[in-house]
Amino acid sequence: MNVPIIDLKAQYAALEAEIDASLKRVCRSAAFALGPEVEQFERDWAAYCEAEHCIAVQSGTAALLLALRALDVGEGDEVITAATSFFATAEAIIYTGARPVFADVDRETACIDPARAEELITGRTRAIMPVHLFGHPADMDPLLELAEARGIAVIEDACQAHGALYKGRKLGALGQVGTYSFYPTKNLGAYGDAGAVVTNDAEIAECARMLRNHGQNARYHHARVGYNYRMSGFQGAVLNTKLPHLDGWNKRRRAIAAHYSQALAAVGVTPAYEADWAFCVWHQYPIRTDRRDALQAYLAEAGVSTGIHYPIPIPDLEAMQNPAPRCAPADLPEAAAWAREELSLPMYAEMTDEQVEYVIETVKAFFSA
Ligand SMILES: Cc1ncc(COP(=O)(O)O)c(C=O)c1O
Repeated sequence: MNVPIIDLKAQYAALEAEIDASLKRVCRSAAFALGPEVEQFERDWAAYCEAEHCIAVQSGTAALLLALRALDVGEGDEVITAATSFFATAEAIIYTGARPVFADVDRETACIDPARAEELITGRTRAIMPVHLFGHPADMDPLLELAEARGIAVIEDACQAHGALYKGRKLGALGQVGTYSFYPTKNLGAYGDAGAVVTNDAEIAECARMLRNHGQNARYHHARVGYNYRMSGFQGAVLNTKLPHLDGWNKRRRAIAAHYSQALAAVGVTPAYEADWAFCVWHQYPIRTDRRDALQAYLAEAGVSTGIHYPIPIPDLEAMQNPAPRCAPADLPEAAAWAREELSLPMYAEMTDEQVEYVIETVKAFFSA
């Protein structure tokens, strides 16, 4: 049996007629950049995220950069973020001229450890950027409290957490501003790159909206130097078609995760963790084992694809060495352990029960061999 880590073709097969019709709508309307499909998605995604404003953009990375720029983060500033994430989180900070400062992560969730973040605050700190990694929310209350006490902004990187809940609340607008990616493999994925900024702050929303479209506040009136970060009409249409399915897909992911967790607990791996205050949407299902590389090779041999998220903590990446980040490797023991031990098992809503069972049996076979 072959089990891919994700199967986008299976999802398209289930939605083919709806998706094709939505793409045709865009062709007929010729609204290829922004336009009514994108505007509808902005309304619906804001409502879904329990946020007042949504600005649809070209990618999650663009959303992060616009969120930072709307807060006026720039040269001389520091932004504290998690050492374990996709590189884009740090890249966006660097684009602004600010310096990323990396905090160690929580042993169980791989999200930023609020106590470690607090230790890194200086007079230059302008924002804290937690990442809701793997679909699990970061522990927001301590972060929001310490940010408020020090006058620092909180920017949520929710690029992997569509539909997740922190103490019953959706993510993105818990702090000043939040960002989503709709990269095709996300729980809500477009058919190309796409992203969004969400916020309850009208000024941040207005600024991000302006910067997304060359800093224009009216046609050919450029108030700021902005970007071409407009979302394409096709992506708006695909996202509108898929959004009504998101909760159902997340429900299926949660059922698969529950099955994995229950079956793998006694096997010799550390199953993925869900805090009691969290509603995780399992963008990835991360297990941990000190035999990670051998397990990955064994699963590949048996036809089971897996991923490693992420093999190198961000501050140790080659691109980060000049100038070297402020933290030393010894400051990040948990991030280093995640990089050494994490393995993401196949996870997508269309997985059949047989595929889930096969993954579990193959992991068990590895540990009993
Ligand atoms: C945590 C995180 N932040 C940011 C991004 C960047 O999003 P995009 O690929 O849409 O630019 C991603 C996407 O892969 C991500 O996983």
